Amino acid sequence: MSTLFINACIRPQSRTLKLAKELLVKLEKETGAPAEVLNLEKENITPLTVEQLHKRDNALENGDFSDPYFRYAKQFAEADIIVMAVPYWDLSFPALVKLYFEATSVCGITFRYTPEGYPQGLCKAKKFYYVTTSGGFIGDLDFGFQYAKALTTKLYGIPETECIRKEGLDIVAAK
Ligand SMILES: Cc1cc2nc3c(=O)[nH]c(=O)nc-3n(C[C@H](O)[C@H](O)[C@H](O)COP(=O)(O)O)c2cc1C
Repeated sequence: MSTLFINACIRPQSRTLKLAKELLVKLEKETGAPAEVLNLEKENITPLTVEQLHKRDNALENGDFSDPYFRYAKQFAEADIIVMAVPYWDLSFPALVKLYFEATSVCGITFRYTPEGYPQGLCKAKKFYYVTTSGGFIGDLDFGFQYAKALTTKLYGIPETECIRKEGLDIVAAK
């Protein structure tokens, strides 16, 4: 069982990363293997360009996804368990996470469309964990997790999603 850990925490003293590490220790005991780590800050993922859109169309047409551009989508599609550590920013997640999802949402790798036009997930993972912390209280304004949940279940076909969150960490009276 392989675990992919996607780290979107940029602060050196990140509380989200600390929380995610507790989960990773537990998963390593269960699976017997450490997670493969993808540190998004170090990846330099850029917004989609028109050249990359053409690259995607050509790859889908030729069935050839060997270009290194597709490495994030392939890595995501292959993992058995996926853990994402994401701080709660501006009611959602850091833009870095959207760039990453743009890179993983490749028709022909993480999902495909049926002849009737319905998306069909192609990811192996049985479970997607979304770990987050927030300064205030998220309540029902959890747009980051709700988006990640919709994408991973409805498009990528990952059956189970869990959000692990710690809230109110920047509230002075709560410290
Ligand atoms: C750019 C930015 C935006 C933030 N937006 C929110 C917000 O909308 N609501 C909230 O409760 N906290 C917000 N926070 C506070 C963080 O959610 C909180 O400090 C969190 O624990 C940071 O995670 P980290 O310690 O892993 O970096 C924001 C922090 C930053 C730096």
